[in-house]
Amino acid sequence: MGSKRTLVPMLGEIATATGSKTALDLFTGTTRVARRFKEQGLAVTAVDTASYSEVFAKTWIAIDAKDCDQNELEDAVARLNSVAPSAGYFTKTFCEDARYFQPMNGEKIDAVRDRIETDYRSTWLYEPLLASLILAADRVDSTTGIQMAYLKQWSKRSYSALKLTNPGLLAGNGVAIRGDAMEIAPQLPSADLAYLDPPYNQHRYFANYHIWETLVRWDAPEVYGIANKRTDVREAEHRSRFNSKPDMPRAIRELIQGVKCETLVLSYNNESWLTRDELIEICSSNGHVEVLDVDFKRYIGSQIGVFNKSGERVGNPGAKRNTEHILIAGDRKMVSSIAKQLRD
Ligand SMILES: C[S@@+](CC[C@H](N)C(=O)[O-])C[C@H]1O[C@@H](n2cnc3c(N)ncnc32)[C@H](O)[C@@H]1O
Repeated sequence: MGSKRTLVPMLGEIATATGSKTALDLFTGTTRVARRFKEQGLAVTAVDTASYSEVFAKTWIAIDAKDCDQNELEDAVARLNSVAPSAGYFTKTFCEDARYFQPMNGEKIDAVRDRIETDYRSTWLYEPLLASLILAADRVDSTTGIQMAYLKQWSKRSYSALKLTNPGLLAGNGVAIRGDAMEIAPQLPSADLAYLDPPYNQHRYFANYHIWETLVRWDAPEVYGIANKRTDVREAEHRSRFNSKPDMPRAIRELIQGVKCETLVLSYNNESWLTRDELIEICSSNGHVEVLDVDFKRYIGSQIGVFNKSGERVGNPGAKRNTEHILIAGDRKMVSSIAKQLRD
């Protein structure tokens, strides 16, 4: 999910070095970065447009583990694991018409998802159970990671039986907001630290993770094409300004001007539409800017190439590595000292 797993320790160090108590994660995705901030004791606000991301943010950021009876969650997970499989929309669409999951797992997903809706909809367990189901499904899928296509041959892990586990709640404070960062950011109170990790090319997350959207919404949408994507992925409301080459520079500039924070951190890919110098110039509205360049292993799909439904290669593998720029903007003394510390 474009997750910043390898950058998380560095972002955690920036939070510590700045002495931040509050943080914004405006494109939170998997919430991996927001979780690190929360684990370090910061009060975090996590924002994203995706429904599945809101489920993750409600689970890991908004819920304070200290306020919950963990046994209730354990019991619910165990109950769901014992639900009898039953084929429905999910099995038909994603296991028979397409081959993202083995039918035995699709039938289980159908049954578990229905049960979450009927038994837990109005309880605090709803989002943690949905998060648990997405994670369980992710462990047995047959893709290279994104849902633009599925593998020609079933992946090894797709043969494993779907099993829900406790998603593991975190203690601490946080807020989950589903919405457009452009609109939400100016309305939020000032934070010590703001982390921005916007999409950096034309690929839309709503389309790349359409199955998680459907699993959360549970709205049995009409689908199209080989990948069986929701027909509404084509609608304008699901396009992000960050996916548009002509509009993206303006969007980033407006966003950064609207975010109220002491220290701003932006991560951006060297294959994006903006150069390093343009990024520095844009971030300088928040103070002095330092850039850290991090070597990054590319998404596996781009290493093995792109295939069509018959398994023929229709795209070539890209370069195996790329660079992620981490821009830190804020008080000169603080930013210079953090950059030095992280470079050493
Ligand atoms: C590069 S990913 C972020 C990954 C995240 N840092 C992580 O570690 O999982 C970009 C995210 O921005 C979200 N997004 C796209 N346009 C958005 C917008 N206008 N406002 C808020 N979120 C948006 C996408 O849904 C996606 O989750």
